[in-house]
Amino acid sequence: MSIINKAAAIGGGVIGAGWVARLLLNGIDVSIFDPDPEASRKVGEVMKGARRAYKQMLPGGLPKEGKLTYAKTIAEAVADADFIQESVPERLDLKHKVLAEIDTHAPANAIVGSSTSGIKPTDMQVAMKKHPERLVVGHPFNPVYLLPLVEIVGGEQTFPEAIEVAKELYASIGMKPVMVRKEIEAFVGDRLLEAAWREALWLVKDGICTVEELDDIMRYSFGLRWAQMGMFQVYRVAGGEAGMRHFMAQFGPCLKWPWTKLMDVPEFNDELVDLIATQSDEQAHGLSIRELERIRDDNLVAIMEALSKQNKGKGWGAGALHKDYTRQLAKLAAKKTSTKAPAKAKPAKKAAKPAKAEKPTKTGKPAKADKAKKGKKKG
Ligand SMILES: NC(=O)c1ccc[n+]([C@@H]2O[C@H](COP(=O)([O-])OP(=O)(O)OC[C@H]3O[C@@H](n4cnc5c(N)ncnc54)[C@H](O)[C@@H]3O)[C@@H](O)[C@H]2O)c1
Repeated sequence: MSIINKAAAIGGGVIGAGWVARLLLNGIDVSIFDPDPEASRKVGEVMKGARRAYKQMLPGGLPKEGKLTYAKTIAEAVADADFIQESVPERLDLKHKVLAEIDTHAPANAIVGSSTSGIKPTDMQVAMKKHPERLVVGHPFNPVYLLPLVEIVGGEQTFPEAIEVAKELYASIGMKPVMVRKEIEAFVGDRLLEAAWREALWLVKDGICTVEELDDIMRYSFGLRWAQMGMFQVYRVAGGEAGMRHFMAQFGPCLKWPWTKLMDVPEFNDELVDLIATQSDEQAHGLSIRELERIRDDNLVAIMEALSKQNKGKGWGAGALHKDYTRQLAKLAAKKTSTKAPAKAKPAKKAAKPAKAEKPTKTGKPAKADKAKKGKKKG
């Protein structure tokens, strides 16, 4: 069950709308601020897709959705939120401006998460003059309403207690928080993705393969392996009975062969952009972005459901979490049904109904972030 009482989303683009969808579908009220006049339509589209995906996960029905409010200012959006997620474009000057405003107007005990793909929290929290200690990076993966991982990164001023609370908040909406042990640009996920992306750009630019061929090489092979075991465990198995040591003895030296251009960056000129974009258009075979999103979501749900049945029914990897998450949502949905039942027939439910508002939450305890402020600084 979520421990968030009221959330605010600052920025409602691809990622912000994904956060809004995950929060609303967990029954949490969200206040959003986005200056784009099209924001409500775009968020609506993402909500449509998210509802559709969750219906597949929860054939018994969805929990009662939280209420979405469009605020006119950041101040209005964050005024009574205990969890705020910033998802504005990836520019440090803009992050500074927005985080300073959030910090000025948010309750002192609210946790502030940033969706940044790679900016260090230390570089962002300098703009927060009141409570920089409550900023954490909570870096998600698109689509936020389906993919459970969130990388948690603290800055020099972030207090360990704020990180602990953030982990609990994200976990309470079905996510898997993984703490990045040292602050580094682009964290872990995007470091890996950047390396693969750079190499992919070279391969297409040099005419070794098309974008479609590259995607096929990935999705018919190691992409399937990665989804269920990651990189290191897959390589351990690839080493045969001798495992990882044998794998490294065999393939370690290859890193020095001319197999990779990893430190080189292709020039991102019009020619390269046109080449990739044209091939990508051909690869889509006329499917719109929304159609591709639906295909992606169906596939992701199917993969997680399949993984949830593995490991003697206990679930494996993202599938084990998926199993717990869908159970949690089904319980929440059952609560909706039972609160709708006539009060006379089930008097006990009367007390259950307002429980969410009354229940003290981790962040709801006024002292929590203040406590964090008094706590030991992250070293
Ligand atoms: N797209 C991804 O795959 C992805 C994945 C993980 C993290 N991120 C990160 O999430 C953040 C947002 O990325 P995105 O892809 O959603 O971008 P986007 O361009 O789709 O959305 C950004 C939104 O922020 C709004 N915005 C601009 N100025 C604002 C302001 N002052 N206050 C409030 N809203 C404002 C814009 O109108 C837009 O709707 C970035 O930090 C990005 O690095 C992106």
